[in-house]
Amino acid sequence: MTTVSIIGSGNMGTAIGGIVAAGGNTAQFIGRDTAEQITGEIVVLAVPHPALAEIVATRGAELAGKVVVDITNPLNFETFDGLVVPADGSSASELAAALPDSTVLKAFNTNFAATLASKSVGPNPTTVLIAGDDDAAKQALAGVVRAGGVDAVDAGRLSRARELEAVGFLQLTLAVQEKVAWNAGLALVA
Ligand SMILES: NC(=O)c1ccc[n+]([C@@H]2O[C@H](COP(=O)([O-])OP(=O)(O)OC[C@H]3O[C@@H](n4cnc5c(N)ncnc54)[C@H](OP(=O)(O)O)[C@@H]3O)[C@@H](O)[C@H]2O)c1
Repeated sequence: MTTVSIIGSGNMGTAIGGIVAAGGNTAQFIGRDTAEQITGEIVVLAVPHPALAEIVATRGAELAGKVVVDITNPLNFETFDGLVVPADGSSASELAAALPDSTVLKAFNTNFAATLASKSVGPNPTTVLIAGDDDAAKQALAGVVRAGGVDAVDAGRLSRARELEAVGFLQLTLAVQEKVAWNAGLALVA
């Protein structure tokens, strides 16, 4: 049994927690402003991108040795026309640099919360794309996701987070323009 600690209990935290529990694993929700210790070997940061810096500052030492999952889409909400990370970088690579003693993965950012809850994108199964430099960590997260009834695919090294964040951004713009519904989006057909 794996314990997954989830910081943030909004749309995504709730949906990811549902997958964790559906697979018979344990979800620990960590609220804001709590001294509760993180017990999970996998920690999902289900928070807005600007909150990552605060979590690094307050929880960084505690996250050492853990698999830390960045799910953010680091959108520039002022322009809604780009990301706040450099075009040749990613939120996940910045997080990995800020947490050198953690194993950072990028995952879930290309899935709308509703499709994690329903486990489907239209007629297709929902697939979580996972990028990271540690195969064992990716397999551990994929195992939790698949146990919960959602497909998972290894999308490559952490450097692929740049592409995952671009895809997440594109999907968001399509939803905002009502070209896809928030309970639909991009699916992977193998
Ligand atoms: N929604 C989607 O379909 C979707 C899809 C892909 C990726 N994402 C990404 O997933 C992340 C979460 O999105 P969401 O839709 O779940 O947002 P949300 O519903 O607004 O939930 C955000 C959660 O983060 C918590 N939080 C905010 N700042 C925090 C901090 N400094 N420390 C601890 N907790 C903090 C909030 O707590 P409070 O209630 O106390 O503020 C809330 O529980 C975002 O980065 C988003 O880009 C979302």
